[in-house]
Amino acid sequence: MKQERFILDTDPGIDDALTILYALASPEVRMEAITVVNGNCPMKQGVINALSVLELLNASSIPVAAGMDRPLVLPVVNAEVTHGKNGLGYAELPTPHTKPHQNHAVELIKDYVLENPGEISIVAIGPLTNIAMLVRLYPQVVGKVKHLYIMGGAINHCGNMTPQAEFNIYCDPHATHIVFHSGIPFTLVPLDVTYQTLMTEEDLERINQVHSPVSEFIVKSSRYVMEFLSESQAVKGCALNDPLALAALFQSHLLDISHLVLDVDTNQGVSMGKTFADFYNYEQKTENGYVALDVRARDFVELFIDRMIEISQ
Ligand code: RIB
Ligand code: CA
Repeated sequence: MKQERFILDTDPGIDDALTILYALASPEVRMEAITVVNGNCPMKQGVINALSVLELLNASSIPVAAGMDRPLVLPVVNAEVTHGKNGLGYAELPTPHTKPHQNHAVELIKDYVLENPGEISIVAIGPLTNIAMLVRLYPQVVGKVKHLYIMGGAINHCGNMTPQAEFNIYCDPHATHIVFHSGIPFTLVPLDVTYQTLMTEEDLERINQVHSPVSEFIVKSSRYVMEFLSESQAVKGCALNDPLALAALFQSHLLDISHLVLDVDTNQGVSMGKTFADFYNYEQKTENGYVALDVRARDFVELFIDRMIEISQ
């Protein structure tokens, strides 16, 4: 089986960490590197979290590179209330021994993409600051990235940061605008689908029955965000936002995807960070992106749980 090769750009973060596990549990894909961006937690904490999750899985050969520690224009926003002080909820991992890659995240992505034209996809599951810097510094990558998968946005769904905006986009709407109009082929995986893919308490108990360091990590990290979502948004479960963006890379049959004119509001008002699709193409523009608007949610969650149980053994 030819593996889909990708770089994970991430703000780990609980569902980000679950995505790292999902990648390592999926033989269909090869995670070449992890690049970190400010988001759920400060970028430096995100690097520590990525290194410690890889150590937990004995996967420290995968390089982790530090990236942008703040948005292009706006002040830093983090999500301690959702992901906890350390970014991994109730989970506590040992301080990692491995060190981050010596190059900046943007340099590392550029090198992989230019050395492997058309072979490397990017799965971006945090704010798009690193990706925007990539296309600004190295526009020649635009035709050489195989495909960009973005967890972010909300089209017909309300936001989770403001009534209009989803967190990743809200953190850096200017970066999002650059990426949406860069020419890189991309698929947006918004809250419209990710809030359907909920890992429930019953699902978590199935993982908990493995009783291993990995299953304990999954349970302790996920429970934190489940409590937050239940209290703040009456959502019953852990929304598998980031793992579903990875699934778009190699399990796209689970998603209903449309090719549309997509854009984002960068104005600093009530709808800052709002993403939208021009379904009627009022301005006769060329469609610039793909977006998942429906999902076979329970089929995905079952696949995800099975692989979490496998990797926890
Ligand atoms: O809105 C959900 C997204 O914001 C996820 O990527 C989560 O990890 C946070 O980064
Ligand atoms: Ca994330």
